[in-house]
Amino acid sequence: MFTNPFLLTLSLLLSLPLVFFLAPRILPPRHSSVPISLDDELDDLSLFTHAASHSSSSSNNNNTSKNPKLKVAFLFLTNSDLHFAPLWDLFFDGASTNLYNIYVHADPSVNVTRPASGVFRGRFIPAKRTFRASPTLISATRRLLATALLDDPANAYFAVVSQYCIPLHSFRYVYRSLFVSPSFDLTSRESNPELARLGVREKYRSFIEILSDAPSLWKRYIARGRFVMMPEVSFEQFRVGSQFFTLTRRHALVVIKDRTLWRKFKLPCYRDDECYPEEHYFPTLLSMADPDGCTKYTLTRVNWTGTVNGHPYTYRPAEVSPELVHRLRESNQSDSYLFARKFTPDCLQPLMRIAKSVIFKD
Ligand SMILES: *[C@@H]1O[C@H](CO)[C@@H](O)[C@H](O)[C@H]1NC(C)=O
Ligand SMILES: *[C@@H]1O[C@H](CO)[C@@H](O)[C@H](O)[C@H]1NC(C)=O
Ligand SMILES: *[C@@H]1O[C@H](CO)[C@@H](O)[C@H](O)[C@H]1NC(C)=O
Ligand SMILES: *[C@@H]1O[C@H](CO)[C@@H](O)[C@H](O)[C@H]1NC(C)=O
Ligand SMILES: *[C@@H]1O[C@H](CO)[C@@H](O)[C@H](O)[C@H]1NC(C)=O
Repeated sequence: MFTNPFLLTLSLLLSLPLVFFLAPRILPPRHSSVPISLDDELDDLSLFTHAASHSSSSSNNNNTSKNPKLKVAFLFLTNSDLHFAPLWDLFFDGASTNLYNIYVHADPSVNVTRPASGVFRGRFIPAKRTFRASPTLISATRRLLATALLDDPANAYFAVVSQYCIPLHSFRYVYRSLFVSPSFDLTSRESNPELARLGVREKYRSFIEILSDAPSLWKRYIARGRFVMMPEVSFEQFRVGSQFFTLTRRHALVVIKDRTLWRKFKLPCYRDDECYPEEHYFPTLLSMADPDGCTKYTLTRVNWTGTVNGHPYTYRPAEVSPELVHRLRESNQSDSYLFARKFTPDCLQPLMRIAKSVIFKD
Protein backbone atom coordinates (compact mmCIF):
# COMPACT_ATOMS: atom_id res chain seq x y z
CA MET A 1 0.00 0.00 0.00
CA PHE A 2 2.63 2.56 1.09
CA THR A 3 5.03 2.12 -1.73
CA ASN A 4 6.11 5.70 -1.49
CA PRO A 5 8.21 6.15 1.70
CA PHE A 6 7.17 9.79 1.86
CA LEU A 7 3.50 8.82 1.96
CA LEU A 8 4.21 6.23 4.64
CA THR A 9 5.97 8.77 6.85
CA LEU A 10 3.24 11.30 6.28
CA SER A 11 0.44 8.91 7.18
CA LEU A 12 2.30 7.80 10.30
CA LEU A 13 2.72 11.40 11.35
CA LEU A 14 -0.92 12.13 10.69
CA SER A 15 -2.09 9.14 12.73
CA LEU A 16 -0.02 10.15 15.74
CA PRO A 17 -2.55 12.61 17.18
CA LEU A 18 -5.26 10.03 16.59
CA VAL A 19 -3.35 7.55 18.76
CA PHE A 20 -3.10 10.09 21.55
CA PHE A 21 -6.76 10.89 21.18
CA LEU A 22 -7.89 7.29 21.27
CA ALA A 23 -5.36 5.80 23.66
CA PRO A 24 -7.23 6.66 26.84
CA ARG A 25 -10.33 4.99 25.43
CA ILE A 26 -8.53 1.84 24.27
CA LEU A 27 -6.02 1.18 27.04
CA PRO A 28 -7.46 -0.28 30.23
CA PRO A 29 -7.24 2.14 33.17
CA ARG A 30 -4.14 1.71 35.33
CA HIS A 31 -6.19 2.84 38.26
CA SER A 32 -6.94 0.30 40.95
CA SER A 33 -10.47 1.53 41.46
CA VAL A 34 -13.02 -1.19 40.93
CA PRO A 35 -15.88 -0.20 38.61
CA ILE A 36 -19.25 -0.11 40.33
CA SER A 37 -21.16 -3.30 39.53
CA LEU A 38 -24.43 -3.19 37.65
CA ASP A 39 -26.22 -4.74 40.65
CA ASP A 40 -24.98 -2.02 43.00
CA GLU A 41 -25.86 0.60 40.44
CA LEU A 42 -29.43 -0.71 40.09
CA ASP A 43 -29.86 -0.98 43.88
CA ASP A 44 -28.87 2.63 44.26
CA LEU A 45 -31.01 3.77 41.36
CA SER A 46 -34.11 2.22 42.90
CA LEU A 47 -33.34 3.78 46.32
CA PHE A 48 -32.73 7.23 44.79
CA THR A 49 -35.84 7.07 42.60
CA HIS A 50 -37.93 6.02 45.57
CA ALA A 51 -36.49 8.75 47.78
CA ALA A 52 -36.95 11.40 45.09
CA SER A 53 -40.61 10.57 44.57
CA HIS A 54 -41.50 10.11 48.24
CA SER A 55 -39.79 13.10 49.77
CA SER A 56 -40.58 16.69 49.04
CA SER A 57 -38.33 19.63 49.66
CA SER A 58 -41.12 21.31 51.64
CA SER A 59 -39.37 21.35 55.00
CA ASN A 60 -36.71 23.51 53.43
CA ASN A 61 -38.42 26.83 54.05
CA ASN A 62 -37.77 29.72 56.35
CA ASN A 63 -40.81 29.17 58.50
CA THR A 64 -39.13 27.98 61.66
CA SER A 65 -41.95 29.44 63.73
CA LYS A 66 -44.53 27.47 61.80
CA ASN A 67 -42.47 24.30 61.75
CA PRO A 68 -40.37 24.36 64.92
CA LYS A 69 -39.13 20.83 64.53
CA LEU A 70 -36.69 21.08 61.65
CA LYS A 71 -33.95 18.52 62.18
CA VAL A 72 -30.29 18.15 61.32
CA ALA A 73 -29.45 14.77 59.78
CA PHE A 74 -25.92 13.73 60.72
CA LEU A 75 -24.53 11.44 58.03
CA PHE A 76 -21.53 9.43 59.20
CA LEU A 77 -19.38 7.96 56.44
CA THR A 78 -16.90 5.45 57.85
CA ASN A 79 -14.67 2.51 56.97
CA SER A 80 -13.53 1.85 60.53
CA ASP A 81 -14.88 1.93 64.08
CA LEU A 82 -16.51 5.16 65.23
CA HIS A 83 -13.56 6.08 67.45
CA PHE A 84 -15.19 9.21 68.77
CA ALA A 85 -18.59 7.69 69.56
CA PRO A 86 -18.34 8.68 73.28
CA LEU A 87 -17.64 12.29 72.28
CA TRP A 88 -20.62 12.33 69.91
CA ASP A 89 -22.78 10.72 72.63
CA LEU A 90 -21.88 13.66 74.82
CA PHE A 91 -22.53 16.10 71.96
CA PHE A 92 -26.09 14.79 71.55
CA ASP A 93 -26.60 14.34 75.28
CA GLY A 94 -29.51 16.54 76.34
CA ALA A 95 -30.41 17.50 72.76
CA SER A 96 -34.02 16.74 71.95
CA THR A 97 -34.33 13.81 69.55
CA ASN A 98 -36.90 16.03 67.86
CA LEU A 99 -34.01 18.06 66.51
CA TYR A 100 -31.69 15.53 64.91
CA ASN A 101 -31.29 12.12 63.28
CA ILE A 102 -28.18 10.02 62.82
CA TYR A 103 -27.34 7.71 59.91
CA VAL A 104 -24.16 5.63 59.57
CA HIS A 105 -22.79 4.15 56.34
CA ALA A 106 -20.06 1.69 57.37
CA ASP A 107 -18.02 -0.18 54.76
CA PRO A 108 -19.29 -3.79 55.07
CA SER A 109 -15.86 -5.24 54.20
CA VAL A 110 -14.54 -3.95 57.53
CA ASN A 111 -15.90 -5.32 60.77
CA VAL A 112 -17.05 -2.02 62.18
CA THR A 113 -18.11 -2.34 65.81
CA ARG A 114 -21.75 -1.32 66.10
CA PRO A 115 -22.19 0.44 69.44
CA ALA A 116 -24.66 -1.49 71.63
CA SER A 117 -25.72 1.72 73.35
CA GLY A 118 -25.52 5.44 72.74
CA VAL A 119 -26.69 7.54 69.83
CA PHE A 120 -25.33 5.24 67.10
CA ARG A 121 -27.25 2.17 68.23
CA GLY A 122 -29.53 0.98 65.43
CA ARG A 123 -28.52 3.83 63.13
CA PHE A 124 -26.50 1.81 60.59
CA ILE A 125 -27.97 1.88 57.08
CA PRO A 126 -27.52 -0.73 54.30
CA ALA A 127 -24.01 -0.06 53.01
CA LYS A 128 -21.68 -1.10 50.23
CA ARG A 129 -17.91 -1.22 49.90
CA THR A 130 -16.06 2.05 49.55
CA PHE A 131 -12.60 2.71 48.14
CA ARG A 132 -10.46 5.76 48.65
CA ALA A 133 -10.41 8.29 45.77
CA SER A 134 -13.16 6.46 43.92
CA PRO A 135 -16.79 7.09 42.91
CA THR A 136 -17.88 4.57 45.58
CA LEU A 137 -17.54 7.43 48.08
CA ILE A 138 -20.02 9.49 46.06
CA SER A 139 -22.44 6.54 46.03
CA ALA A 140 -22.11 6.06 49.78
CA THR A 141 -22.87 9.75 50.40
CA ARG A 142 -25.86 9.66 48.06
CA ARG A 143 -27.12 6.53 49.85
CA LEU A 144 -26.94 8.40 53.15
CA LEU A 145 -28.75 11.42 51.69
CA ALA A 146 -31.49 9.29 50.12
CA THR A 147 -32.02 7.26 53.29
CA ALA A 148 -32.26 10.39 55.43
CA LEU A 149 -34.61 12.12 52.95
CA LEU A 150 -36.95 9.15 53.00
CA ASP A 151 -36.70 8.47 56.71
CA ASP A 152 -37.88 11.80 58.05
CA PRO A 153 -39.50 14.71 56.21
CA ALA A 154 -38.31 16.98 59.04
CA ASN A 155 -34.65 16.46 58.09
CA ALA A 156 -33.80 19.89 56.75
CA TYR A 157 -29.99 20.05 56.87
CA PHE A 158 -27.76 17.10 56.02
CA ALA A 159 -24.26 17.19 57.54
CA VAL A 160 -21.71 14.70 56.20
CA VAL A 161 -19.02 13.74 58.72
CA SER A 162 -16.43 10.97 58.98
CA GLN A 163 -15.10 8.89 61.85
CA TYR A 164 -12.15 11.30 62.05
CA CYS A 165 -14.37 14.36 62.52
CA ILE A 166 -15.08 15.94 65.89
CA PRO A 167 -17.64 18.57 66.91
CA LEU A 168 -16.18 21.96 67.85
CA HIS A 169 -19.29 23.22 69.67
CA SER A 170 -22.36 22.02 71.54
CA PHE A 171 -25.36 20.67 69.65
CA ARG A 172 -27.32 23.73 70.74
CA TYR A 173 -24.74 26.02 69.11
CA VAL A 174 -24.71 23.96 65.90
CA TYR A 175 -28.50 23.95 65.67
CA ARG A 176 -28.82 27.67 66.31
CA SER A 177 -26.11 28.45 63.78
CA LEU A 178 -27.81 26.47 61.03
CA PHE A 179 -31.46 27.39 61.64
CA VAL A 180 -31.77 30.45 63.80
CA SER A 181 -28.83 32.85 63.81
CA PRO A 182 -29.32 35.60 61.23
CA SER A 183 -25.61 36.46 61.32
CA PHE A 184 -23.79 33.12 61.49
CA ASP A 185 -22.94 33.19 57.78
CA LEU A 186 -20.68 36.22 57.39
CA THR A 187 -20.84 36.09 53.60
CA SER A 188 -24.61 36.52 53.59
CA ARG A 189 -24.26 39.34 56.11
CA GLU A 190 -22.04 41.01 53.52
CA SER A 191 -24.23 40.24 50.54
CA ASN A 192 -27.37 41.40 52.30
CA PRO A 193 -26.50 43.81 55.15
CA GLU A 194 -30.04 45.15 55.26
CA LEU A 195 -31.59 41.79 56.17
CA ALA A 196 -28.77 41.10 58.63
CA ARG A 197 -29.33 44.44 60.35
CA LEU A 198 -33.01 43.63 60.74
CA GLY A 199 -32.04 40.25 62.19
CA VAL A 200 -33.83 38.47 59.37
CA ARG A 201 -32.59 35.14 58.19
CA GLU A 202 -32.08 34.69 54.44
CA LYS A 203 -33.33 31.46 52.92
CA TYR A 204 -31.26 28.46 53.96
CA ARG A 205 -28.13 27.86 51.95
CA SER A 206 -25.89 24.82 51.68
CA PHE A 207 -22.51 25.01 53.36
CA ILE A 208 -20.39 23.40 50.70
CA GLU A 209 -16.94 24.41 49.57
CA ILE A 210 -16.87 25.31 45.87
CA LEU A 211 -13.52 26.34 44.39
CA SER A 212 -12.62 27.02 40.79
CA ASP A 213 -8.94 27.90 41.05
CA ALA A 214 -7.13 24.92 42.56
CA PRO A 215 -3.67 24.23 41.07
CA SER A 216 -4.37 20.61 40.09
CA LEU A 217 -7.83 21.25 38.66
CA TRP A 218 -6.94 20.63 35.02
CA LYS A 219 -5.18 17.33 35.80
CA ARG A 220 -8.19 16.24 37.81
CA TYR A 221 -10.54 17.28 34.99
CA ILE A 222 -8.74 15.13 32.41
CA ALA A 223 -8.13 12.23 34.83
CA ARG A 224 -10.68 10.07 32.98
CA GLY A 225 -9.45 11.08 29.53
CA ARG A 226 -9.06 14.33 27.65
CA PHE A 227 -12.63 14.77 26.34
CA VAL A 228 -14.56 12.42 28.58
CA MET A 229 -16.40 15.01 30.67
CA MET A 230 -17.79 16.80 27.62
CA PRO A 231 -20.40 17.91 26.84
CA GLU A 232 -22.02 17.60 30.28
CA VAL A 233 -19.22 19.30 32.20
CA SER A 234 -16.86 21.75 30.54
CA PHE A 235 -13.61 22.61 32.29
CA GLU A 236 -15.06 26.04 33.11
CA GLN A 237 -17.84 24.31 35.06
CA PHE A 238 -15.56 21.85 36.88
CA ARG A 239 -15.17 22.57 40.61
CA VAL A 240 -13.40 21.19 43.67
CA GLY A 241 -14.26 21.21 47.35
CA SER A 242 -14.32 19.19 50.54
CA GLN A 243 -16.49 16.05 50.61
CA PHE A 244 -17.62 17.08 54.12
CA PHE A 245 -20.50 19.49 53.67
CA THR A 246 -23.89 20.47 55.07
CA LEU A 247 -26.65 20.54 52.45
CA THR A 248 -30.18 21.87 52.53
CA ARG A 249 -33.00 19.44 51.83
CA ARG A 250 -33.54 21.05 48.44
CA HIS A 251 -29.94 20.35 47.46
CA ALA A 252 -29.96 16.84 48.91
CA LEU A 253 -32.80 16.16 46.46
CA VAL A 254 -30.85 17.69 43.59
CA VAL A 255 -27.98 15.32 44.40
CA ILE A 256 -30.01 12.11 44.51
CA LYS A 257 -31.99 13.04 41.38
CA ASP A 258 -28.90 13.62 39.27
CA ARG A 259 -28.17 11.07 36.56
CA THR A 260 -26.33 13.21 34.02
CA LEU A 261 -23.20 14.15 35.94
CA TRP A 262 -23.06 10.82 37.74
CA ARG A 263 -22.66 9.04 34.38
CA LYS A 264 -19.40 10.93 33.96
CA PHE A 265 -18.06 11.05 37.49
CA LYS A 266 -18.53 7.31 38.02
CA LEU A 267 -16.00 6.51 35.28
CA PRO A 268 -12.66 5.21 36.59
CA CYS A 269 -9.60 7.45 36.41
CA TYR A 270 -6.31 6.67 34.72
CA ARG A 271 -4.22 7.90 37.61
CA ASP A 272 -4.71 7.37 41.31
CA ASP A 273 -3.08 10.60 42.36
CA GLU A 274 -5.30 12.97 40.37
CA CYS A 275 -8.69 11.38 40.83
CA TYR A 276 -10.71 12.07 44.04
CA PRO A 277 -14.15 12.21 42.31
CA GLU A 278 -15.84 12.75 45.71
CA GLU A 279 -14.14 16.16 45.93
CA HIS A 280 -15.49 17.23 42.52
CA TYR A 281 -18.90 15.70 41.98
CA PHE A 282 -20.86 17.58 44.66
CA PRO A 283 -19.31 21.05 44.21
CA THR A 284 -19.58 20.81 40.41
CA LEU A 285 -23.19 19.61 40.48
CA LEU A 286 -24.40 22.23 42.97
CA SER A 287 -22.46 25.07 41.40
CA MET A 288 -24.18 24.22 38.11
CA ALA A 289 -27.62 23.74 39.68
CA ASP A 290 -27.83 26.57 42.21
CA PRO A 291 -24.64 28.58 42.84
CA ASP A 292 -26.44 31.29 44.83
CA GLY A 293 -27.96 28.68 47.13
CA CYS A 294 -24.47 27.67 48.29
CA THR A 295 -22.13 29.51 50.67
CA LYS A 296 -19.14 28.05 48.76
CA TYR A 297 -17.35 27.24 52.04
CA THR A 298 -17.51 24.29 54.41
CA LEU A 299 -18.15 24.20 58.16
CA THR A 300 -15.60 21.43 58.67
CA ARG A 301 -12.12 22.70 59.47
CA VAL A 302 -9.23 20.77 57.99
CA ASN A 303 -5.50 21.49 58.01
CA TRP A 304 -3.88 21.02 54.61
CA THR A 305 -0.49 22.37 55.70
CA GLY A 306 2.10 19.66 55.13
CA THR A 307 -0.34 17.40 53.27
CA VAL A 308 0.99 13.90 52.56
CA ASN A 309 -0.37 11.69 49.78
CA GLY A 310 -3.70 13.52 49.65
CA HIS A 311 -4.23 13.21 53.41
CA PRO A 312 -4.63 16.33 55.55
CA TYR A 313 -2.71 16.92 58.75
CA THR A 314 -3.81 14.51 61.49
CA TYR A 315 -3.79 15.76 65.07
CA ARG A 316 -2.24 13.59 67.80
CA PRO A 317 -3.17 13.39 71.51
CA ALA A 318 -0.33 15.67 72.67
CA GLU A 319 -1.69 18.48 70.45
CA VAL A 320 -5.23 18.38 71.87
CA SER A 321 -5.80 21.45 74.05
CA PRO A 322 -8.36 24.19 74.67
CA GLU A 323 -6.17 26.47 72.52
CA LEU A 324 -6.33 24.04 69.60
CA VAL A 325 -10.14 23.94 69.80
CA HIS A 326 -10.28 27.74 69.83
CA ARG A 327 -7.86 27.97 66.92
CA LEU A 328 -9.80 25.42 64.86
CA ARG A 329 -13.03 27.33 65.33
CA GLU A 330 -11.63 30.53 63.79
CA SER A 331 -13.20 31.19 60.42
CA ASN A 332 -13.19 34.09 57.97
CA GLN A 333 -16.56 33.14 56.49
CA SER A 334 -18.79 32.28 59.42
CA ASP A 335 -18.96 32.93 63.15
CA SER A 336 -17.13 29.64 63.65
CA TYR A 337 -16.30 26.28 62.16
CA LEU A 338 -18.63 23.62 63.59
CA PHE A 339 -16.59 20.45 62.98
CA ALA A 340 -12.93 19.56 62.46
CA ARG A 341 -10.81 16.73 61.11
CA LYS A 342 -8.64 14.69 61.27
CA PHE A 343 -7.77 13.29 64.66
CA THR A 344 -6.09 9.97 65.48
CA PRO A 345 -8.35 7.57 67.42
CA ASP A 346 -6.25 7.92 70.59
CA CYS A 347 -7.21 11.62 70.75
CA LEU A 348 -10.47 10.45 72.32
CA GLN A 349 -9.28 10.62 75.92
CA PRO A 350 -7.77 14.13 75.80
CA LEU A 351 -10.84 15.34 73.85
CA MET A 352 -13.20 13.86 76.45
CA ARG A 353 -11.24 15.62 79.19
CA ILE A 354 -11.95 19.04 77.67
CA ALA A 355 -15.37 18.20 76.22
CA LYS A 356 -17.59 19.74 78.89
CA SER A 357 -15.27 22.53 79.97
CA VAL A 358 -14.24 23.70 76.48
CA ILE A 359 -15.79 22.05 73.41
CA PHE A 360 -19.43 22.01 74.48
CA LYS A 361 -19.23 25.16 76.59
CA ASP A 362 -20.54 28.08 74.55
C1 LIG B 1 -45.13 30.40 56.53
O1 LIG B 1 -45.97 30.56 57.62
C2 LIG B 1 -47.07 31.44 57.35
C3 LIG B 1 -47.85 31.67 58.63
O2 LIG B 1 -48.02 30.48 59.35
C4 LIG B 1 -47.92 30.81 56.23
O3 LIG B 1 -48.99 31.68 55.93
C5 LIG B 1 -47.06 30.61 55.00
O4 LIG B 1 -47.79 29.95 54.00
C6 LIG B 1 -45.82 29.80 55.34
N1 LIG B 1 -44.94 29.74 54.19
C7 LIG B 1 -44.37 28.62 53.76
C8 LIG B 1 -43.46 28.75 52.60
O5 LIG B 1 -44.58 27.52 54.27
C1 LIG C 1 -15.26 -10.04 60.10
O1 LIG C 1 -15.75 -10.98 61.04
C2 LIG C 1 -16.11 -12.23 60.47
C3 LIG C 1 -16.73 -13.08 61.55
O2 LIG C 1 -16.16 -12.82 62.78
C4 LIG C 1 -14.86 -12.87 59.84
O3 LIG C 1 -15.21 -14.09 59.23
C5 LIG C 1 -14.28 -11.92 58.80
O4 LIG C 1 -13.08 -12.44 58.28
C6 LIG C 1 -14.01 -10.56 59.40
N1 LIG C 1 -13.63 -9.66 58.34
C7 LIG C 1 -12.65 -8.78 58.46
C8 LIG C 1 -12.39 -7.92 57.28
O5 LIG C 1 -11.97 -8.68 59.48
C1 LIG D 1 -39.43 33.26 53.31
O1 LIG D 1 -39.92 32.38 52.34
C2 LIG D 1 -40.96 32.96 51.55
C3 LIG D 1 -41.52 31.88 50.66
O2 LIG D 1 -40.53 30.95 50.27
C4 LIG D 1 -40.39 34.15 50.80
O3 LIG D 1 -41.40 34.75 50.01
C5 LIG D 1 -39.86 35.17 51.79
O4 LIG D 1 -39.25 36.24 51.11
C6 LIG D 1 -38.84 34.52 52.70
N1 LIG D 1 -38.46 35.45 53.73
C7 LIG D 1 -37.21 35.79 53.99
C8 LIG D 1 -37.00 36.75 55.06
O5 LIG D 1 -36.26 35.30 53.37
C1 LIG E 1 -1.50 22.70 60.72
O1 LIG E 1 -0.50 21.71 60.61
C2 LIG E 1 0.82 22.19 60.78
C3 LIG E 1 1.77 21.02 60.57
O2 LIG E 1 1.69 20.54 59.25
C4 LIG E 1 1.00 22.78 62.14
O3 LIG E 1 2.31 23.32 62.27
C5 LIG E 1 -0.04 23.89 62.35
O4 LIG E 1 0.03 24.38 63.68
C6 LIG E 1 -1.42 23.36 62.10
N1 LIG E 1 -2.41 24.45 62.17
C7 LIG E 1 -3.41 24.44 63.05
C8 LIG E 1 -4.36 25.60 62.98
O5 LIG E 1 -3.57 23.56 63.86
C1 LIG F 1 -8.38 34.40 57.36
O1 LIG F 1 -7.85 35.35 56.46
C2 LIG F 1 -6.53 35.74 56.77
C3 LIG F 1 -6.15 36.87 55.82
O2 LIG F 1 -6.41 36.47 54.49
C4 LIG F 1 -5.58 34.54 56.67
O3 LIG F 1 -4.26 34.92 56.99
C5 LIG F 1 -6.05 33.47 57.64
O4 LIG F 1 -5.27 32.31 57.49
C6 LIG F 1 -7.50 33.12 57.39
N1 LIG F 1 -7.96 32.24 58.45
C7 LIG F 1 -8.53 31.07 58.19
C8 LIG F 1 -8.95 30.27 59.37
O5 LIG F 1 -8.71 30.65 57.06
